[in-house]
Amino acid sequence: MFRVRTMAPKDFSFAVSLANTMNWNMTAADFEFNRQLEPTGCLILEEDSGPIGLATCISYGQVGWFGNLVVDEAHRKLGAGSQLVKHSVSYLKTRGVTTVGLYAYPHLVEFYGRIGFRGDVDFVVLKANAISANFGASENLKIVDAQDLPLITDFDSSCFGSPRKRLLEAIFTSPGNIGYVAVDGSRIEGFVVAKVFGEVAEIGPLACPRSKPKIAVDLLKAVLIRLYGFEAYMYLPANEISLLEIALNAGFTEKFRLKRMFLGPDVAKNCIYSAESLERG
Ligand SMILES: CC(C)(COP(=O)(O)OP(=O)(O)OC[C@H]1O[C@@H](n2cnc3c(N)ncnc32)[C@H](O)[C@@H]1OP(=O)(O)O)[C@@H](O)C(=O)NCCC(=O)NCCS
Repeated sequence: MFRVRTMAPKDFSFAVSLANTMNWNMTAADFEFNRQLEPTGCLILEEDSGPIGLATCISYGQVGWFGNLVVDEAHRKLGAGSQLVKHSVSYLKTRGVTTVGLYAYPHLVEFYGRIGFRGDVDFVVLKANAISANFGASENLKIVDAQDLPLITDFDSSCFGSPRKRLLEAIFTSPGNIGYVAVDGSRIEGFVVAKVFGEVAEIGPLACPRSKPKIAVDLLKAVLIRLYGFEAYMYLPANEISLLEIALNAGFTEKFRLKRMFLGPDVAKNCIYSAESLERG
């Protein structure tokens, strides 16, 4: 009854209007970016009358990420959403993925649980209308330059559980984005990056070893100082109290919470980690 196919540019207007029934503020450029990272990973669910749902998948080696699941309201509770999740998991497996991650609204934890996902950490979705950071800057950080990228990619892989070269290169080399790295001699001890779209910024990923929480604090403060006055979004683990306090002091408020869920073997968890975006890990 339902069929799944790869999203094409002609589907972008459908995808944007369906996604934005959820107030996700998506644009065609978001789907285009996903398609650049994973050309066959944006999916459309359709029935005879035309498209009725969508989802996006990205594979990073053994770790895959699933997001943007939405089914047109008139077609819900008929199995379409479950079919799209299962199809996406199968698709990611064909790409060599063994662990699939997603961020679930709390009321959908059981829905994903029935498909085999298990709950992991809670994340807080934060928004600032205008960042008002008033911190001293740390001297142990430097602005990221192109030479840092291979080391950042390796470091990120040890935290995230799989290499995200394509994604990180796209973010770090995009003009206007802001990145800091904490270095100890020739070693990287953490990094943060913020994507800047005009007057709006999205902060993350931020990563550093769990044994060095001060580095995470310094990285977050550094990027907040640079983004003074910006509207901004950030997705922090609910158990990272120091980072949450800094965010609240800088004018962020909690919007809602999401549960990170995984299907498949555990991925690396030895780091403090903020999400890059809710669709891409
Ligand atoms: C989440 C969402 C995609 C689910 O889509 P859906 O097509 O309704 O999904 P399904 O039909 O597979 O399953 C939904 C429910 O209907 C039930 N169902 C499935 N087929 C059914 C049928 N033939 N008859 C009755 N119930 C059925 C399922 O058991 C499930 O039950 P639950 O609500 O207790 O979990 C949809 O609700 C949606 O688009 N929501 C808004 C966007 C959103 O929240 N996205 C998720 C971000 S994490």
